[in-house]
Amino acid sequence: SDTITILGLESSCDDTAAAVVRAGDKTEILASVVAGQTDLHAEFGGVVPEIAARAHVEKLDLCVEEALAQSGMTLSDLDAIAVTAGPGLIGGVLAGVMMAKGLSAATGLPLIGVNHLAGHALTPRLTDGAAYPYLMLLVSGGHCQFLIVKGPEDFTRLGGTIDDAPGEAFDKTARLLALPQPGGPAVETEAAMGDPKRFRLPRPLLDRPGCDMSFSGLKTALLRERDKIVTVKGGITVQDRADLCAGFQAAVADVLAEKSRRALAEYMALSPAEPLLAVAGGVAANIAIRAALETVCGEAGAEFLAPPLALCTDNAAMIAWAGIERYRAGHTDDLTLAARPRWPL
Ligand code: KG4
Ligand code: ZN
Repeated sequence: SDTITILGLESSCDDTAAAVVRAGDKTEILASVVAGQTDLHAEFGGVVPEIAARAHVEKLDLCVEEALAQSGMTLSDLDAIAVTAGPGLIGGVLAGVMMAKGLSAATGLPLIGVNHLAGHALTPRLTDGAAYPYLMLLVSGGHCQFLIVKGPEDFTRLGGTIDDAPGEAFDKTARLLALPQPGGPAVETEAAMGDPKRFRLPRPLLDRPGCDMSFSGLKTALLRERDKIVTVKGGITVQDRADLCAGFQAAVADVLAEKSRRALAEYMALSPAEPLLAVAGGVAANIAIRAALETVCGEAGAEFLAPPLALCTDNAAMIAWAGIERYRAGHTDDLTLAARPRWPL
C-alpha cells in the first residue's frame, strides 16, 4: 500500500526525541516523545555540548522504546528510520545517527538523514497539509531565517539573523534582568505589565534593504538603559523591569514584522495560489510576536499559520515527517551517512 510509517530521531540540541509518524490517506503522529535537558544545563547558563551528548546517549534508546510502545508499532511495522544528521551540536547529532545506524543495520530498514532545519520548515505540511510553495519564518533559540519552501529539498533562503537568534536575545535579556531561564516566557510575562514606549530601543537593520536581521545590539541597548536607572536610583523597580521587557519585546516584534513584510513581498511575486506564512521555533509561542505577524499577513493578503507549540519547538515528529517526504522522493541513505555540525539548507 501507499501507507508509510517512519520512526524519527532528534538529538541535535538539548532535547532527546523519538516519534512515529504514519502517512497514507491521512497523516497521523502515532507517538511523539520528547525528553528535555533544561535542568541539566540550568546552572551553566546555556547548553553544555558534552553534557548534552551524554544525556542523549543515555536517553535515546528509552525514547525509542517509549515511542514504539505508545504507537503500538514494532520495528518490523516500520518502513524506514529517519534521523537528524545536522546541523547541531556534533556529539548529540552523532548519538542520534549512531542509534539510527544501529537500528538500520539490525533491521535492514532504510536510513534517512534529515536536515534539522528542513524538519522545522516542513512542519506546516505535517500539521496542516500546507501546499508548496509557502513562506516559513523559523525563530528559535538557535535559528532565525526566512525560507521559501518549494519542495522537500528545495528551499530559498531570503535572509536571517547576522548575529543572535531572537530566542537567544530573549534569554540574554532575562539574564540581564535576573529573570529565570528560558527567558522567552519570563520576559513575555513581564512585558505584559510594562509600557513598551517608555524605553525606545533600536530596530536594527530596518534602514537596510532585504530580510537580514540583527538582535545582539538590542541586548546592549537594554543593558545601557538598565545601568542608567541603576546609576540614578541604585537599583531597578518591578515597574522598570516590566517596562524594559515591554520595550525589548516590542523592538523584536517590530523587526520581525517589518522583515516579514519584505519576505512576503518577495514570496508573493511567485504568485502562490493560497499565500501562506508559517512560523516554527520556540519564539513563535510569543503572543505579541504572533499578533504582529498576523497583522502583517492580513495586510499582505496571506494566511498565517502557527502549528501547535509542541511541534514548533524541537521534536522528532517533524524529523519523521521530513523522512517521509524524502522517502517518497526516493531519497534514502546508507550506513555511510555522515553527521554534520554545519549543514545549510
Ligand atoms: O525552538 P526552541 O524550543 O529551541 C531551539 O532553540 O531549538 O526555542 C527555544 C527558544 C528559547 O530561546 C526561548 O527563550 C524562546 O524560544 N521562547 C520564547 C517564548 N517561549 C520560548 N521567546 C519569546 N517568547 C516566548 N513566549
Ligand atoms: Zn530546532
